[in-house]
Amino acid sequence: MHFEFSEEQLMIRQAARDFAQTELKPGVIERDEHQKFPAEQVKKMGELGFLGMMVPPEYGGSGMDAISYVLVMEELSKIDASASVVVSVNNSLVCYGLEKYGTEEQKRKYLVALASGEKIGAFCLSEPEAGSDATSQHTTAVDMGDHYLLNGTKNWITNGGTASTYLVIAQTDPSKKHHGINALIVEKGMEGFTVGPKENKLGIRGSDTHSLMFTDVKVPKENRIGEDGFGFKFAMKTLEGGRIGIAAQALGIASGAYELALEYSKQRKAFGKTISDLQAIQFKLADMATQIEAARLLCLKAAWLKDHGQPYAQASSMAKLYASEVAMRTTIEAVQIHGGYGFVKEYHVERLMRDAKITQIYEGTSEIQRIVISREVLK
Ligand code: CAA
Ligand code: FAD
Repeated sequence: MHFEFSEEQLMIRQAARDFAQTELKPGVIERDEHQKFPAEQVKKMGELGFLGMMVPPEYGGSGMDAISYVLVMEELSKIDASASVVVSVNNSLVCYGLEKYGTEEQKRKYLVALASGEKIGAFCLSEPEAGSDATSQHTTAVDMGDHYLLNGTKNWITNGGTASTYLVIAQTDPSKKHHGINALIVEKGMEGFTVGPKENKLGIRGSDTHSLMFTDVKVPKENRIGEDGFGFKFAMKTLEGGRIGIAAQALGIASGAYELALEYSKQRKAFGKTISDLQAIQFKLADMATQIEAARLLCLKAAWLKDHGQPYAQASSMAKLYASEVAMRTTIEAVQIHGGYGFVKEYHVERLMRDAKITQIYEGTSEIQRIVISREVLK
């Protein structure tokens, strides 16, 4: 067992750290306040290869491993989780799904532009009445011979307004239940496809979350991913990797808040000494540091398993469950350590606390992660 990163992994982590400081930090408070999508920053992340990190170079990607992806996600998320969720969705839900299960034609037509960051993708599983209960799809994709006729509504879709390519999960044959579900590649601009207004959110306010409406959208048969009826398995397999990305996002939110609290505690004076001299504060920092390290190891273990072709569903759910809970606890304590200053925007920790909450909800709530983990351990 080696607890060492390679030169390449250290370099990419440093590149992400520098990018987060120089490009994401300036303006992050304003983007949060005005719900502004980090468009320029996303373009630059594409140029740096962060949007198709694990895709082989022949399909426009950077050909890196999942460990590097975790390192990059942590660094970006320390500063701006609204930007890092774009990286997570594009890499692990959209690019991975196409690379692993798409045809050569689909890869050439869609993956190359997505992996290079020229275009952005979205993953569309959740519906107004089906979030956790993802097999209960109401969106229909009726088989019309040479195309599917897509009807229905998807909810809460990250990159909903900015994406060009959408992977949409829909029910083709209800009699087959989840075996009758398909995953279709839908392009922005297809007739009958409309994007709803942007959601006004508690956290990750810069990210672009919309509902999507499909009315008699004709999707060519060649845009189906995998065999007929593979759509639900496609979603589940893709989410296994997606959860590593969100776990690393939660880790970054936690470590970003911890680093700010640590620095602040060494400067703030009370009762004639710095607050870091108070055991009450020292113990908070000790708990934060310990939990963050445990979350980091879970993220890296899940990524390592993925890189080594071993099953990683349980590991990615454990990483997401634990890291997201650590993110919530750590950010609350970081605000506490900042006292009143923690409650105002300039000190960043209140935003990190708001951003942390979503990591317990999307890509499967904490309750859903417990279902996945308990089913694995009881097998
Ligand atoms: N790999 C392959 N197949 C899987 C699988 C996996 N990891 N997990 C489940 N399946 C298969 C099962 O084997 C089963 O197929 P068979 O009948 O052929 O065996 C089928 O899927 C249905 O599985 P279950 O019987 O376990 O279904 P369930 O309804 O009891 O539970 C669930 C499924 C785990 C709760 C699932 O619905 C789930 O993960 N829900 C959460 C949805 C979610 O994570 N949404 C995230 C949306 S994307 C997002 O949020 C992005 C973002 O924010 C940025
Ligand atoms: P519900 O499923 O209605 O859950 C409500 C509560 O009940 C939760 O606490 C849940 O854990 C609990 N619960 C439900 N079932 C069980 C059970 N069996 N056992 C125990 N507890 C249970 N989806 C996408 O497809 N693509 C995206 O890009 C995307 N981005 C998102 C971005 C944001 C900002 C948000 C808020 C959501 C996003 N989602 C996306 C949707 C997200 O994945 C769902 O919100 C999530 O899966 C939960 O579904 P729900 O909101 O319908 O809650």
